[in-house]
Amino acid sequence: MDTSAPELLSPYDQIGGADGIRRIVDRFYDLMEQDPAYAELRAMHADELGPMRAALAGFLGGWAGGPRDWFDANPGKCMMSMHGGLAITPGTARQWVQAMERAFADCGMADHPVALLMNERFRMMAGGMAATDLDG
Ligand code: HEM
Repeated sequence: MDTSAPELLSPYDQIGGADGIRRIVDRFYDLMEQDPAYAELRAMHADELGPMRAALAGFLGGWAGGPRDWFDANPGKCMMSMHGGLAITPGTARQWVQAMERAFADCGMADHPVALLMNERFRMMAGGMAATDLDG
């Protein structure tokens, strides 16, 4: 009889580790750059999105249980407070959430349990950033 504990994969590993997360993040910013539906959100960001691609991939990787490099490099940085000065509207918050849902879907993970969980959390965070309820 096999008495070993079942191997538990972190959400990070379940969605493909560093490569999987980078693919989702790249698709997210490609959509933001290419689809006029996200023009307002795009306009809030710096012209050069390279640093943001690395930062979001680093943050999400650590958040999902992968390497904590982004958190080590940004001790005590709170995502919610960091966005506090950005004047995020319900519209731009919705664009963020919708672009991220599409990015997961375009990477073949529309119904992946980790994608569903993460997108639900993003919706809550983005709603908090815009001081609104995105489900309402
Ligand atoms: C609610 C809609 C959101 C808007 C409009 C928004 C907008 C922005 C903007 C304008 C920046 C600065 C980018 C630049 O300097 O070019 C930024 C940075 C960042 N955002 Fe958001 N954001 C939103 C939601 C989120 C959420 C939900 C997360 C995480 C789950 C997130 C993660 C990040 C990260 C990791 C950075 C870079 C932090 C750093 O390394 O300095 N954002 N965001």
